[in-house]
Amino acid sequence: MRRIIIAIDGHSSTGKSTAAKQLAGHLDYVYVDTGAMYRAIAFHALSSNLVENGSLDKQALIAALPGLAISFKLNPDTHKADVYLNGTNIEKEIRTLEVSNIVSPVAEISEVRAKLVEQQQAMGQERGIVMDGRDIGTVVFPNAELKVFMTAAPEVRAKRRYDELVQRGDQVTYEEIHKNVLQRDHIDSTREDSPLIQAKDARLLDTSEMSREEQFELLKKWAMETI
Ligand code: C5P
Repeated sequence: MRRIIIAIDGHSSTGKSTAAKQLAGHLDYVYVDTGAMYRAIAFHALSSNLVENGSLDKQALIAALPGLAISFKLNPDTHKADVYLNGTNIEKEIRTLEVSNIVSPVAEISEVRAKLVEQQQAMGQERGIVMDGRDIGTVVFPNAELKVFMTAAPEVRAKRRYDELVQRGDQVTYEEIHKNVLQRDHIDSTREDSPLIQAKDARLLDTSEMSREEQFELLKKWAMETI
């Protein structure tokens, strides 16, 4: 069987990561969560005090980029790849609402995107990869054999993210999560560099009324048809 590149893009909290991870496991492919890479840079901006009153010092972040090395390493306990920044595991730290609130402004910076896109393209050289994000089918791998664009109603996505964070023990309200989801949709879709749009040759997957099992079954079917 030939090994292909599968690009999964879409809005935040549509279930992209879960579905992509499951699909990669099923095909014995590598899974890459590119959102984690943008979150790692956002985490650095926060922990280095480059954010003041919600406003990001873009120039200082651009200057810091050459010193930031992002990598993934399999966690033997969870069987998932954790994200590392300069050798430190920051998997838990990047999932907070604080990071979610600053990640889209960070991802608007062209220098940040150029650095991460280069690394993502290198990861796909061997093919046999499922990569999820916002610009995978449009910019990172425009020739990917299978492209999927996932979406769902904002209220459904906010509820999913809220349940996830509450389960982790985070103190958050549904209203602030809903606001963050809408804000990220807006910034991600309207930015100048690599905006979130459905690639012309991507298949649309609206998960509003689909169970995780149904999403996985459909993705598996599309993948098998393509391979
Ligand atoms: O996928 P996740 O919701 O974790 O992504 C966090 C943020 O990172 C997105 O809202 C978007 O601003 C940015 N991102 C991006 N391009 C990607 C992946 C994520 O701009 N390929």
